[in-house]
Amino acid sequence: MKSYLTELECTYCHETYSADEPHRTCDECGKVLYPRYDLEAAGQALDRAALRDRPANMWRYFEVMPVRDEANVITLGEGYTPIFQAQRLGAEFGCTDLLIKDEGLNPTGSFKARGLSAAVSKAKELGLTRLTMPSAGNAAGAMSAYAAKGGLEAYLFMPQDVPDSNRKEAAITGGKVTLVDGLISDAGRVSREKAAEEGLFDVSTLQEPYRLEGKKTMGYEIAEHLNWTLPDVILYPTGGGTGIVGMWKAFEEMEHMGWIGSERPRMYCVQAEGCAPLVRAFREGQEFAEPWQNAHTLAPGIRVPAAIGDYMILRSLRESGGGALTVSDDEILHYMGLVASLEGMFICPEGAATAAALNKLLADGSVLPDERVLLMNTGNGLKNLELVEG
Ligand SMILES: Cc1ncc(COP(=O)(O)O)c(C=O)c1O
Ligand SMILES: [Zn+2]
Repeated sequence: MKSYLTELECTYCHETYSADEPHRTCDECGKVLYPRYDLEAAGQALDRAALRDRPANMWRYFEVMPVRDEANVITLGEGYTPIFQAQRLGAEFGCTDLLIKDEGLNPTGSFKARGLSAAVSKAKELGLTRLTMPSAGNAAGAMSAYAAKGGLEAYLFMPQDVPDSNRKEAAITGGKVTLVDGLISDAGRVSREKAAEEGLFDVSTLQEPYRLEGKKTMGYEIAEHLNWTLPDVILYPTGGGTGIVGMWKAFEEMEHMGWIGSERPRMYCVQAEGCAPLVRAFREGQEFAEPWQNAHTLAPGIRVPAAIGDYMILRSLRESGGGALTVSDDEILHYMGLVASLEGMFICPEGAATAAALNKLLADGSVLPDERVLLMNTGNGLKNLELVEG
């Protein structure tokens, strides 16, 4: 297999950079860099039908993945997660075609495995050996696991009140964990300081170009699993927003390769009432989101007060005709229980936020009962046992 990676391109000022040396964000404007591919050649080299013979993980789309040499791929079997028809939950909502993509079945129990498999593999290919990152929870365990498998060093900076499971999974796989007084944004500052002092490479969300490439495979998989169609609506629990931006990129790439048409799902960003910078910016018609003060929610993955990819998330919501909305912590807990009891899926609080949001979108007519709706369950509820009574 061959990757058709060509270069990195700034998503804001369009400056280009080599994809064969380490880069983080754009040197000119500080914004996010996108890996670009020769999509025409990739489309000719990889026929959709040929995917049948590929491994059942996210590296099956190797032609549009950023690692050049297959030997550098560090995999624990991430991706190729199932999409379940949620009939009983759908009946409760009055939604006749409700789907849930279960990212909780990934290695390390969340979709963060995708981003970190891609980023750690590419770091290895570029000769980087010591990585650092802030994490609100799941990303730490994922980076630590892929670093362990690839023989790299992982430094993790996490808020003091991060769930025990996240801290311990990072530690047992050899990650060097430091707890920071504050939120993920504070942890990010300490991680950057540490990177400068000790020559570590910082792989914060969208501040290096390759985690996105792992996350985008969710978009490829949705199309492949639905026989090269897309749902009418996708609901995504949004923190840093890599998933929403990644899926949007995947749709654009697939269209260029002739794999899908120009139709797109309406993308909805779901945030918590206590931390909703993107919802506020969307409603106010802003291009960028102001940082959220005093962020709080019991869903750690969406307790993210500021996102460097804010302009890209907002752009994809608007271009898709979707939107942004909040849910309360009580609703999150209620829907964790409801989804578990009706569908047998122990979903994470962030995933439960999308179910709570769907209820609101159906009630106000933004989503119609017979539309095909996909909820992204981004992680496994077993990692958040402290939220469950029993
Ligand atoms: C379970 C879960 N869901 C959602 C998110 C938010 O992801 P993103 O940064 O792609 O918006 C996170 C991030 O930590 C997470 O762990
Ligand atoms: Zn730029």
